[in-house]
Amino acid sequence: MTVSRIVAITNNKGGVAKTTTCMSLGASLAEMGHRTLIVDLDPQADLTLAAGLAAEALTCSAADWLDPEGTPLPLEIETHVMTGLDILPTDPRLAGVERRLYDQDGYETTLAQKLAPWRERYAYVLLDCPPSLGGLSIMALTASRWVLVPVQCEYYAARRVNRLLDVIELVKERTNPDLAYYLLATLYDQRNRICQGVLGQLQTHFSERLMQTVIGVDTRLRESPAAGEPIITYAPRTRASQQYRELARELHQRLTAR
Ligand SMILES: Nc1ncnc2c1ncn2[C@@H]1O[C@H](COP(=O)(O)OP(=O)(O)O)[C@@H](O)[C@H]1O
Ligand SMILES: [Mg+2]
Repeated sequence: MTVSRIVAITNNKGGVAKTTTCMSLGASLAEMGHRTLIVDLDPQADLTLAAGLAAEALTCSAADWLDPEGTPLPLEIETHVMTGLDILPTDPRLAGVERRLYDQDGYETTLAQKLAPWRERYAYVLLDCPPSLGGLSIMALTASRWVLVPVQCEYYAARRVNRLLDVIELVKERTNPDLAYYLLATLYDQRNRICQGVLGQLQTHFSERLMQTVIGVDTRLRESPAAGEPIITYAPRTRASQQYRELARELHQRLTAR
């Protein structure tokens, strides 16, 4: 029996390619034959939009699903992005649900419990987190076995992830001792010296915690959300598609290694 590998894609900074990575990595894992579910946990609903869905016209939403008073979802998710890739979309009401959950004792485990029925259906579940360390991100870190932290190759990048790493340590101490993290260098511009320097620092500082795959700047990645499809089907032969496929291979290798 397969049990999903649950990975939170988290960074409290916005614009570091969390949503882009969730969609592109999810599609690449699906292409490799691993059935994958991506979950939109950001009330801004960027992932939902990138899948070509309008937040106003959803038949199911993570906002209802996580709402303590909401209706449970049927086990068959009907929102397909491509073969092997399903999405649990969301809408802006998720912000209110987060506030209501936050007042409840033990709210941290809500997402883990809600995901349990799906763990036999998907090889991977990827959680796209909002750019904050509020209740939704804490629930995601509690539900996951791994955290993938996209880091933009810019000055101060390494220092900025320290707060997130502290929170990961807290979650490990309190509820989730096996949680492990990996960093992913994103938006890398090979002609930019600052970028090169920052990547070097990340390699020195985080060594084997840093994914070897680096995601370069590629304007096609800015276009694919507007087209409502993953980069690997929108522009399958671009460098970004190759890099996200490589990332999927590397992640799968790391997560299945003993
Ligand atoms: N490798 C890349 N090359 C060029 N643009 C990118 C790349 N990755 C992400 N982007 C763009 O950067 C912006 C922020 O990315 P996004 O995935 O929404 O970040 P986050 O979810 O962390 O806020 C988006 O406009 C996205 O299209
Ligand atoms: Mg996002």
